[in-house]
Amino acid sequence: MSEAPTYSPGLAGVIAGESAISCIDVERNKLNMRGYDLVDLTEGGASFEEVAYLLLHDDLPNAGQLAAFCDALTVERHLPDPVVQMINAAPKSAHPMALLRTAVSSLGYCDIEAEDNSHEANVRKAVRLLAKVPLAIAAGHRNAQGLEPVEPRDDLGLAANLLYMLRGDDPQPYAVDAMNVSLILYSEHGYNASTFAARVAASTLADMHAAITVGVATLGGPLHGGANEAAMEMMLEIGTPDNARAWVMDALESKRKIMGFGHREYKSGDSRVPAMKQAGQLVLEATGEDRWRQIAEIAEETMLSEKGIFPNLDLPCAYTYYGLDIPIPLFTPIFVASRVSGWAAHVIEQQDNNRLIRPNHNYTGPVGRTFKPVDQR
Ligand SMILES: CC(C)(COP(=O)(O)OP(=O)(O)OC[C@H]1O[C@@H](n2cnc3c(N)ncnc32)[C@H](O)[C@@H]1OP(=O)(O)O)[C@@H](O)C(=O)NCCC(=O)NCCS
Repeated sequence: MSEAPTYSPGLAGVIAGESAISCIDVERNKLNMRGYDLVDLTEGGASFEEVAYLLLHDDLPNAGQLAAFCDALTVERHLPDPVVQMINAAPKSAHPMALLRTAVSSLGYCDIEAEDNSHEANVRKAVRLLAKVPLAIAAGHRNAQGLEPVEPRDDLGLAANLLYMLRGDDPQPYAVDAMNVSLILYSEHGYNASTFAARVAASTLADMHAAITVGVATLGGPLHGGANEAAMEMMLEIGTPDNARAWVMDALESKRKIMGFGHREYKSGDSRVPAMKQAGQLVLEATGEDRWRQIAEIAEETMLSEKGIFPNLDLPCAYTYYGLDIPIPLFTPIFVASRVSGWAAHVIEQQDNNRLIRPNHNYTGPVGRTFKPVDQR
């Protein structure tokens, strides 16, 4: 008789599928993305577009392929009218992440290939989403501020356009570089919660936009992508470097989770953190504002000495985005603008070789109860 599979809370350690897209190499503390070390891509000066191409097409593009991919993104940089109307009709108080989730869903019913799950159509839909998500973020932000939307520019790449459309002025090169690095580092991370959720949706043969909507919804929670916003709120609450150690000690004492720390897979440091810290340094040098990095460093020292827990990507990303003057509620939507590439790669991989994802569970409720009609209960 075969043994019953053991249950692991939170599915920790469970192999839930196969993928040729990326894996965390815990031994060497690296993220392997289609055979490349992710940090080599940031250090080698790759653009986010090259990494998105790598995710969608299995290999890095040559110059001609990259130019064609960027052209395809440029052509798709516009929002359908019903999506613009939905954004403009949303309450100004709507959280940008809620608005973006609805925008991604409504892009689905406007997409001419919505119900075509073929490999080719899925890649085209992924390109459209990559192009349109930054526009939806910027349009929602500008509308909430009572400002006119800023048209994207054909001469700017995705990172630069995102900054440009949010603010309406030319982004500084340091800002574009820091944003580009953050988008690369956020692009893909194995079977994390939102990617797994997107794959579950895709495995039912729900379409690309439906699966990505699930991804956005799942990313928003503070234990996942929402941690970059929560980490910045925490640093603001700490206020000054002098207060950081005592604040963290107090929070640990009262069993609070310290946002931007810890990871299910990495137990000796998040491989993406050093590259993000370097990008953050570019912003600190340009702006001269070092307070938030100092608070983060003291929190890091305290967490390491007290709990042996390392920071994750969200911590340096939070103070970098803050240094770029990006409003905090946009931090997680910007994560979406990047992770769309990873989610889409997973949806494509799932649907190219599909089997419905449908696990079992241990039932812990009662059995054998006797039904009585409602007037007898
Ligand atoms: C990411 C996270 C959800 C991983 O969770 P997990 O693998 O289920 O690990 P657990 O929550 O079981 O944590 C294991 C232990 O470390 C502690 N721990 C983990 N992360 C912690 C944190 N950020 N602050 C304080 N304690 C933490 C837990 O309290 C637990 O301690 P215990 O064994 O004494 O109860 C968790 O580290 C966390 O909540 N981090 C904060 C949110 C965050 O930054 N998310 C972004 C992740 S990229």
